[in-house]
Amino acid sequence: MNARYLTITGILMLAAAIGFSACFNPRQGYAPEQPIAFSHQLHAGINEIPCGYCHVNPGEGPVSGVPSVNTCMNCHSQVKTDSPEIQKIHKSWRDGTPIKWVKVHDLPDHVQFSHTPHLNRGMDCSECHGAVNRMDVVEVTNPFNMGWCVDCHRQPQHNAPIDCVTCHY
Ligand code: HEC
Ligand code: HEC
Ligand code: HEC
Ligand code: HEC
Ligand code: HEC
Repeated sequence: MNARYLTITGILMLAAAIGFSACFNPRQGYAPEQPIAFSHQLHAGINEIPCGYCHVNPGEGPVSGVPSVNTCMNCHSQVKTDSPEIQKIHKSWRDGTPIKWVKVHDLPDHVQFSHTPHLNRGMDCSECHGAVNRMDVVEVTNPFNMGWCVDCHRQPQHNAPIDCVTCHY
């Protein structure tokens, strides 16, 4: 194989990789349907349940930042037990099978993100996720791409690092 062939193959593979990631990185406006019609507006908005009651440590480590069925059962062993949606919770709990929530925000694996440094700076969830307490279905409300991260890091009041290794392994 000659060098030109390798270069062209390389370019095609890179284009394919970018195309692939474009298809599989959910972006602004993405709001997938969930297996149970769970509403943030009803829970976090109208009933004022704090975000931290369900998202103890969002997205850190191997454990998902989305609550387990036990958290739902704290209330729904009593509340609205006759509803078909709540009976899905009861079935999941009885069978010991977790609810298969569809991931809404999902960065590519080559990006390093942790909530901790952001929350330690006193940032509110809404700065990145928007007004979740007014959403019936969670929607991605920001671009969640590199430019969006770097633009905020650059702002003088934040002065957060922007060298490549900050966000890439
Ligand atoms: C009663 C429990 C509960 C409360 C309170 C709650 N959430 Fe959630 N949250 C969930 C569940 C369950 C999901 C997964 C289903 C979904 O996406 O709607 C979720 C999903 C999310 C997601 C999307 C996760 C992903 O896959 O990317 C975000 C962001 C989020 N919540 C933020 C918040 C914020 C911000 C608050 C407070 C304003 C909050 N949540 C309050 C239970 C809760
Ligand atoms: C702190 C208490 C609490 C927790 C925890 C909680 N809920 Fe709820 N949930 C409520 C209340 C209160 C309502 C409104 C009941 C009503 O309309 O009378 C509700 C209503 C609902 C409804 C609407 C039912 C219907 O048919 O009207 C669904 C679906 C639901 N919850 C799912 C969940 C899921 C899934 C979880 C776990 C991720 C969860 N809830 C955790 C208190 C809670
Ligand atoms: C600086 C921006 C930023 C802030 C502030 C922020 N998040 Fe996130 N959140 C993200 C990003 C980026 C992801 C996607 C992470 C990934 O895919 O690796 C995410 C993912 C999540 C997820 C999904 C995690 C999972 O394991 O599926 C939940 C739940 C969540 N955030 C809740 C919250 C809550 C609750 C708050 C406030 C306490 C909050 N976030 C504050 C940027 C932010
Ligand atoms: C709304 C502003 C904002 C957005 C959006 C944001 N960040 Fe940050 N980021 C910060 C601030 C502020 C810090 C804390 C800097 C400090 O404490 O020195 C930080 C810190 C970090 C750190 C730790 C840096 C270190 O070494 O101390 C990483 C990694 C990071 N952010 C990645 C990301 C990624 C990846 C995204 C996009 C998905 C993102 N951030 C989006 C403001 C933001
Ligand atoms: C503050 C966080 C942050 C910093 C700093 C950062 N990146 Fe990124 N980078 C990201 C995020 C987030 C993505 C994922 C973008 C997407 O999926 O759309 C990304 C994606 C990429 C990609 C893949 C292209 C693509 O479209 O998926 C390359 C290549 C890249 N970054 C290179 C760099 C280089 C080189 C630097 C240093 C000059 C750098 N990044 C600095 C957050 C960052």
